[in-house]
Amino acid sequence: MNKKRLAMLTGGGDCPGLNPVIRAVTRSGIQSGYEIIGVRNGWKGMIEKDFIVLDRGSVAGILHRGGTILGTSRTNPRKIDGASDRIFQNFKELNLDVLIAIGGDDTLGVAYDLYQRGLAMIGVPKTIDNDLSGTDCTFGYDTAVNIAMEAIDRLHSTAESHHRVLVVELMGRHTGWITIGAGLSGGADYVLIPEYPVSMDEVAETIKKRHATGRTFSIVAVAEGFKVEGVDIIQTKELDAFGHPRLGGVGEIVARELEKRTNFETRSVVLGHVQRGGAPTAYDRILSTRYGLKAVELARTGQFGKMVSLRGTEIIAVDLQAVTKSKVVPSELYEGAKIFFG
Ligand code: F6P
Repeated sequence: MNKKRLAMLTGGGDCPGLNPVIRAVTRSGIQSGYEIIGVRNGWKGMIEKDFIVLDRGSVAGILHRGGTILGTSRTNPRKIDGASDRIFQNFKELNLDVLIAIGGDDTLGVAYDLYQRGLAMIGVPKTIDNDLSGTDCTFGYDTAVNIAMEAIDRLHSTAESHHRVLVVELMGRHTGWITIGAGLSGGADYVLIPEYPVSMDEVAETIKKRHATGRTFSIVAVAEGFKVEGVDIIQTKELDAFGHPRLGGVGEIVARELEKRTNFETRSVVLGHVQRGGAPTAYDRILSTRYGLKAVELARTGQFGKMVSLRGTEIIAVDLQAVTKSKVVPSELYEGAKIFFG
């Protein structure tokens, strides 16, 4: 008798922790009697029928590796004529019994469409930004915060030596999870995030007061999605397939505005994709492994149209439909961080 076939793909921006999910799905899927199909480059691979068969050997030695051995893309089947039909047909032609989509709200939104068309879909939530509703935390976030914290630690000594203000720009398109995490753990002197607008005058006043007490340097952490005086800072106007503009440059503008108002020498640093690169932390390896194991359990028990989710300390299943990009930094956390401003 032919084995049941379980496929998986990784879509959207990469995150440390994707490989541990792939490893957990493969190891546990094989144990459950599935043949495991790795679809290359997200939905692009499903459209083009580009896949590999994964065995135990294919996932050996990847637990600690960043990125995704399957590759990823931001291909959006909703925007390509006939793509959804091709995916539907390829799912059938490949004799798949279930597809596990590992991705953010864009990737999982497509999975939900296909589930509604009758395909067996399961979601694993992923975003470095940690802003997906339906789960308490996404893997990769802890790694990114640790990288950003270390950057802030390192910026301290050079800022102090040169008596400068250093503005560090961090990832976070709509929310400031990485920035608040890094700011709190790294001891930033101001944190600017999209959820809590503040004027440049206000930030400059706080920095001036800090320096009036004898401090000669400051570190400001800013999320790329922070609006300066209400204006979005966009690097290129071109949108990706899911309609997102490329952000970037807010750090430089904040630095300029602060220098103008304070007369303190101010420089900016963009951490960029460094935050998404390299080995996942132990927390992210464990979370992503647990997500992968749970996804296979859902497959085995026929719970399609679901997404794995962290609730407190438990990994549970929630409706795939539930996922949106709407989990914001709570005011209680921001108010706590404010105590340390200045
Ligand atoms: O959505 C995750 C994210 O890392 C954002 O923080 C960032 O704006 C974006 O992806 C960068 O996307 P790309 O890697 O396609 O430039």
